[in-house]
Amino acid sequence: MSFFSKLFRFGSQNMAIDLGTANTLVYVEGQGIVLDEPSVVAIETINGIKRVKAVGDDAKMMMGKTPDSIEAIRPLRDGVIADIEVAEEMIKHFIKKVTGRQRSLFNQPEIVICVPSGSTSVERRAIRDAASNAGASQVHLILEPMAAAIGAGMPVTEPIGSMVVDIGGGTTEVAVLSLRGLAYTTSVRTGGDKMDEALVSYVRRHHNLLIGETTAERIKKDFGVARAPADGVGHTIQIKGRDLVNGVPKEISINQAQIAEALAEPISTIVEGVRIALENTAPELAADIVDQGIVLTGGGAMIEGLDAFMRDETGLPVTLAENPLSCVALGTGIAMEDPVYKGVLHTQ
Ligand SMILES: Nc1ncnc2c1ncn2[C@@H]1O[C@H](COP(=O)(O)OP(=O)(O)OP(=O)(O)O)[C@@H](O)[C@H]1O
Ligand SMILES: [Mg+2]
Repeated sequence: MSFFSKLFRFGSQNMAIDLGTANTLVYVEGQGIVLDEPSVVAIETINGIKRVKAVGDDAKMMMGKTPDSIEAIRPLRDGVIADIEVAEEMIKHFIKKVTGRQRSLFNQPEIVICVPSGSTSVERRAIRDAASNAGASQVHLILEPMAAAIGAGMPVTEPIGSMVVDIGGGTTEVAVLSLRGLAYTTSVRTGGDKMDEALVSYVRRHHNLLIGETTAERIKKDFGVARAPADGVGHTIQIKGRDLVNGVPKEISINQAQIAEALAEPISTIVEGVRIALENTAPELAADIVDQGIVLTGGGAMIEGLDAFMRDETGLPVTLAENPLSCVALGTGIAMEDPVYKGVLHTQ
């Protein structure tokens, strides 16, 4: 790097962003992951004028508990930007939080941001524009499964086929990678959110009890299992919600076998996506996957026993990445810093 380009880079911190449906992570060049917060924005409306009340952790605490004047929004439902203006506000807020100062001519970072492999050019443009408006001097894109694979330490630059399955909040991305490229990719719009919804509807159907999304997510994280426990019951837990018959608060108990039953449908949709990807993989690459196995990333992959369930369903070795929730951010950051990965960054 020349003296002058160094001079002009002074003060700017290049960053990599994993803009997820559930969580946003920011990786700063030379520092690693410095921010990890829920992708939630609380908007307050006073006299018809909207303003951002809280972002990230502070906004998530308000979810399901806001008065009429405040709305907690997840701008990226289903893995793509559902509300572009709110998404932009959120990106701006996080960048400002990381840089800790107002942007200026000398403080305009280059940003690498990951996008779902199944996103359309219109969706990618929206993400690029949001990052530019938030103060990026240049925006590069990386496909989410590629970032996940790099973050999980998979051999993506070699002529060896490997498969990554990234189970996020909104989508599950299944990809076969080789030589810095995606040889095959498919995206299923089922992830952690659908698991939460499945739990809400199970409890409603079987117990006439209405529970909130936040409660469902907590139960899933703490007690969710991909298969009924060996004793056919597992832990039994209490759940509070509103009785649908007489409208008053009520508590019921549910066991892990029932939770597995509730989660069965979204989990089988995910396994089906993996099966379709395997059927569509070229024979030489498929042969590599038999040796390399499948690597699971993303928060949804942390459901207890999901790796073993997928191993049984596919007959292949399946491993859970070391830090499932941060693989994508880590991989995006590494791709930004290490010239070996230059070919995986795109401008559109
Ligand atoms: N221990 C856990 N067990 C089960 N699920 C979990 C666990 N921890 C987090 N999750 C779920 O993982 C999901 C979030 O994962 P992640 O942060 O990888 O998604 P994302 O990157 O924001 O979404 P996407 O990639 O779809 O845009 C949420 O649905 C969350 O409930
Ligand atoms: Mg993700």
